[in-house]
Amino acid sequence: MVPAYAQQAMQNVAAMVNDPVNLQGLLDKIEEIPFRPLADAHLIDPTRPSEAPSEEFRSLRTRLNHMQSLSPIHSIVVTSPSPAEGKSFTAVNLALAQSHLAGNLTLLGDFDFRRPIVHTLFQVDRSPGVTDFLLGRAQLHEIIKKIAGTNLYIMPAGEAVLNPLELLNLREVKSMVDRLPSVFNWVILDTPPLLFAADANLLSTMCHGTLLVVRIGTTTIDSVTRAMQSLCENNVLGISVNGARRGELYSRYTYYHSYYYSAEAKAREDGEADAEALGASAPPGGKPE
Ligand SMILES: Nc1ncnc2c1ncn2[C@@H]1O[C@H](COP(=O)(O)OP(=O)(O)OP(=O)(O)O)[C@@H](O)[C@H]1O
Ligand SMILES: [Mg+2]
Repeated sequence: MVPAYAQQAMQNVAAMVNDPVNLQGLLDKIEEIPFRPLADAHLIDPTRPSEAPSEEFRSLRTRLNHMQSLSPIHSIVVTSPSPAEGKSFTAVNLALAQSHLAGNLTLLGDFDFRRPIVHTLFQVDRSPGVTDFLLGRAQLHEIIKKIAGTNLYIMPAGEAVLNPLELLNLREVKSMVDRLPSVFNWVILDTPPLLFAADANLLSTMCHGTLLVVRIGTTTIDSVTRAMQSLCENNVLGISVNGARRGELYSRYTYYHSYYYSAEAKAREDGEADAEALGASAPPGGKPE
């Protein structure tokens, strides 16, 4: 027997998602919120493009956009074998990097109903979010927020549920994930770890690709092997290695790095000096260390 919550969800999601007119009008109805990230959220800063994380996420973005130019990849699951390896860090920063490109509408969805964090990082309410939509308590436009002045849209996880996997198994979830790329060029889903819950595994079968995050010093070869084996569909786009130290990234390229960025850094410092002389406050991100 189909549970009552599932019946309600089916009606709501079918009504919203299977209606292209609704989806096209979606953007007009979405509320804008200011970009006000948590102080230690570790988000990349567009005003500091030469910082190592910014460079790495731009590089990841370039690879994915190249893949997208070769085949229609618009929805990706970001996951990792185990907890705390940087799934959310990667999903959020990848979404930010994508949204910095003109016209590149990017939706970051928190599909980690077990340990959601997107709402915390952006300092918004957890609810209404994905679970509320799936449970028929909110409409699609109510669970998406646009970060003002950017191409980034975020979808928090929603109220905690006892049965995340049961909810994700509703066929309307696939319907939702299938249709969102008709509005957003990139739909990036933050998910739980592969070896601790079946959620990411299931979601990866619904999305065009899966990005596996591993963390230096934490992820074991055994867990990567098991995580890769656990993925039902062979849609792994690549492995993102998290936690490399700056020296490891740039030791071979230090000369080029400083060659390309010294002029830009100097210009920024000069600009900040001018701003200080005028009594203005520092730009977002503060002064370079
Ligand atoms: N490269 C990094 N540099 C600095 N801090 C990082 C980095 N990657 C992750 N972190 C920090 O490590 C912590 C865990 O990262 P994150 O929340 O992204 O992991 P997760 O895999 O999503 O964890 P969970 O399994 O709980 O969902 C966070 O505080 C995050 O800010
Ligand atoms: Mg996480």
